[in-house]
Amino acid sequence: MPALINPSILSADFANLERDLGAIATADYAHVDVMDNHFVPNLTFGPQMVGRIQDVSTLPLDVHLMIEDADRWAPEFARAGVASVTFHAEATQAPVRLARELRRLGARAGVALRPATPVEPFLDLLGEVDMILVMTVEPGFGGQSFIDGTLPKIRRAREAVSEAGLDVWIQVDGGVSRSTIERAADAGANVFVAGSAVYGAQSIPDEIQALRDLADAASHAH
Ligand code: DX5
Ligand code: ZN
Repeated sequence: MPALINPSILSADFANLERDLGAIATADYAHVDVMDNHFVPNLTFGPQMVGRIQDVSTLPLDVHLMIEDADRWAPEFARAGVASVTFHAEATQAPVRLARELRRLGARAGVALRPATPVEPFLDLLGEVDMILVMTVEPGFGGQSFIDGTLPKIRRAREAVSEAGLDVWIQVDGGVSRSTIERAADAGANVFVAGSAVYGAQSIPDEIQALRDLADAASHAH
């Protein structure tokens, strides 16, 4: 499966979101960072706004919830009609129940791990999710630098998915650029979120293609 490139609209111009969604039309999903000012010290979009973003986006939305009490709020985002909803492992009491609810509502279900959260407690439950998001920066802001210490976790997650014979995607988010994407792909990631690298590029389509090509080459090198 080719690498998926999901630009993060956290780096878009919030007053020109429709324009900036159009600018990433050659990508795979638009990554939408939902922040509640509690789970992370930043505040972005609510479910109503995400629903409108989905209405005007030609790309499916990959929603990354950085919010407390995901059990209560995550289904609202699935009901907004988005393609994928990822909640944080640290913000749910009942990840399996929540993942099943998201899938029942028609969304792909993802579970996200902060850089210091281990993946092992989730490996037995891989069949319940469609994606594991390994955060490669502390969530909250764009433009931070990639944490190489997360690479072994990506590798362990990929090994567990392969051993189980499952089609669970492994996403990385934070500090992904031309200079870091090969390391993440080599470790086993297949979905790449990039905010500042894409929106800060001279040519957004060229940047998306360059990231995809680097990731594909690094993962085929196995
Ligand atoms: C950070 C967000 C990321 C952010 C990535 O909390 O989850 O999606 O937009 O931005 P860059 O690619 O600039 O690190
Ligand atoms: Zn994100």
